[in-house]
Amino acid sequence: MILLGPPGAGKGTQAEYLVDMYGLVQLSTGEMLRAEVKSGSELGKKAKELMDAGSLVPDDLIIDMISGQIDQHKEAKGVILDGFPRTTAQAEALDEMLGDKGLNIDHVIQMEVDEDAVVERISGRFSCSDCGAGYHDSLNKTEIDGVCDKCGSTEFTRRADDNAETVRSRLKAYREQTAPILPYYEKRGSLDTINGIGSMEEVFDRIKEIVEGG
Ligand code: AP5
Repeated sequence: MILLGPPGAGKGTQAEYLVDMYGLVQLSTGEMLRAEVKSGSELGKKAKELMDAGSLVPDDLIIDMISGQIDQHKEAKGVILDGFPRTTAQAEALDEMLGDKGLNIDHVIQMEVDEDAVVERISGRFSCSDCGAGYHDSLNKTEIDGVCDKCGSTEFTRRADDNAETVRSRLKAYREQTAPILPYYEKRGSLDTINGIGSMEEVFDRIKEIVEGG
């Protein structure tokens, strides 16, 4: 399954729900890149500057990274691609790699959220440093202040690219490089578009309807 949508649309949030309900594996290219940056690898060094500027990382680096991850999860019930593909070249490469691996795409779900909501969501976002669970200062607080609901950790982190200026560049990259892939999936009849505004549970109900509808 592919989750598409602008930064802050709720792709990561809904992927967590999908993992919990259906036992799927979430593959987030953003998370993978942040792990590379943290480890100080060559890929991480190349990616950091681009990510901090809100630009996309080159297609070849991303395609190799995701192909390796899909191979590692061959036995999984299914995989949610969160943040990939993001360009036409990535969408075409994905088709080729899935064909080679004998796999296919069941659902492509586009989450529509207006830019004001995106900026509000991104500006209050934080996550657990230990398990990665996502939260928001006002929209999705931890049950106990300062304690992760999922793992009990008291360490949290905020992303370097979650600032107003970078968000504007990320939205521009989405409009110019990612939105053009929507017709690619639409033509094949595999694209479903949902309203990403509403509570997290309401949005998840819309996704569930698509997943369980076939
Ligand atoms: P990435 O990590 O993929 O970031 P993104 O696409 O900008 O998406 P986000 O993670 O910001 O948002 P989201 O939709 O997951 O929202 P979330 O669920 O957290 O990419 C980062 C960078 O890496 C890119 O800029 C690029 O440089 C690089 N990169 C990654 N993949 C790449 C690729 N394929 N090719 C090239 N470069 C790549 O929700 C946001 C907030 O809102 C949270 O606080 C959440 O609690 C809250 N929230 C969620 N849903 C709701 C709701 N329904 N109501 C209220 N609040 C909500």
